[in-house]
Amino acid sequence: MLPFNLCWSENLKNLKLPSSAKHANDKLLGIKKKRRLSIYSKTFQFNSGVLLCLGFVALLLLWFFGSLQSYPILWFQFRFRGYEKVDPFIFQNCSKVDFGRRFAVVIPFIPKQTNRVLSNLKRWASLEYFPCDTLVDSLVIESTDLFFYYDMPLDHPSVQESIHTLTRWLRKEPLQSVVSSCFHNVRFISANLSAEQSTNSYKMDFVKSSVKTEGTVRQFRAVVNHPSLINTHRHFFYMEPDHIPIRNRWLSAIFNDSLQGDFWMKGSLMRYKPRFSCAFEPYRTQYLRHINGNAIYKVGDPCFMRFLENVYREYPDFAFDTSINFYRLDLRHYITYQYTAHRFQVTEVMADLGVVRYDEDRLRSDLPNTYTAHGKFMYTEKQLGWQKY
Ligand SMILES: *[C@@H]1O[C@H](CO)[C@@H](O)[C@H](O)[C@H]1NC(C)=O
Ligand SMILES: *[C@@H]1O[C@H](CO)[C@@H](O)[C@H](O)[C@H]1NC(C)=O
Ligand SMILES: *[C@@H]1O[C@H](CO)[C@@H](O)[C@H](O)[C@H]1NC(C)=O
Repeated sequence: MLPFNLCWSENLKNLKLPSSAKHANDKLLGIKKKRRLSIYSKTFQFNSGVLLCLGFVALLLLWFFGSLQSYPILWFQFRFRGYEKVDPFIFQNCSKVDFGRRFAVVIPFIPKQTNRVLSNLKRWASLEYFPCDTLVDSLVIESTDLFFYYDMPLDHPSVQESIHTLTRWLRKEPLQSVVSSCFHNVRFISANLSAEQSTNSYKMDFVKSSVKTEGTVRQFRAVVNHPSLINTHRHFFYMEPDHIPIRNRWLSAIFNDSLQGDFWMKGSLMRYKPRFSCAFEPYRTQYLRHINGNAIYKVGDPCFMRFLENVYREYPDFAFDTSINFYRLDLRHYITYQYTAHRFQVTEVMADLGVVRYDEDRLRSDLPNTYTAHGKFMYTEKQLGWQKY
């Protein structure tokens, strides 16, 4: 009875429905139409109130205990309609890794974040966080390039200004020596998006508890087969400006990790305590298992390209990493999962820390094999909030 009491307004509770005797009386006396109408409308209000309540309770129960992809329902679908037909283009004629090709560190950003990129680069320059060991890591240094990756075309005035600032800093110490010691080439490239294409709407989807980051997704989609990488590089490490080193020789560690296994994406799970999520099942647990987008990616594998197209057909706008993982971990795509699960690998060389703040020394002792960390943990409270990268 509880929900009724909760939702039934006083006004409606006091409402007395006409008894049949009175009803007959009303008829006899020719009760005014207006009064009868008001009785009906109150009855209707009562019904819609109850319905609303029941609906709310059902939603709450679904949120607590249910799933939008309930296994029994999926199973019946499998029985009657057959299993998913797997797309042959995601597993036939895939390219093998060509280890003769180069490795890249790609920093995706927008001109507004130039200072954030600079402060990360300055961190690299200190011995504590130096990317490589110049004496022993010669293979890494010879075969790794650094890419500054803009959203808008390189000749856009704001991009021009950012390139100008960065080059000025890169030509002097301490940045000059760290970048020239650990990287072979430095290049500025772009996704060539228009200002509108690069914008994130941050519209919230409460069912999936995800925000739409259209611009960020477009920038990522343009990098996996970018003309500056596709014929020359085998993997790139997508390192957003808020992804920072916590140990030295991090580049060497990530480079080494990229040599293990023929994966499409290798990155970190969330390494922080789960926070409240308003999402419905299965999205909330899929989220907990997602591999963060700051990861190592394979370049130019047609099977990976095809897989990403399939993902974006289903999830065009959410953060690209959660979309990939929503698709991958969805039971409706279980057959696809059988063919592609090995393409997605988890590593502890990097750690995704979200917006949680950490003490760095503790972080290093908790994560003894981790070299870089992604998150806003080094920013002050005021600098937090919605930021593109
Ligand atoms: C893979 O290559 C073979 C041989 O060239 C071809 O017969 C097959 O159709 C290709 N598969 C796909 C999905 O393109
Ligand atoms: C963007 O345009 C430049 C100049 O035309 C070109 O070199 C570059 O490859 C383009 N980038 C992409 C992702 O197409
Ligand atoms: C990467 O691998 C090389 C060769 O096995 C090794 O010498 C180097 O120490 C490794 N780098 C790191 C940071 O572990």
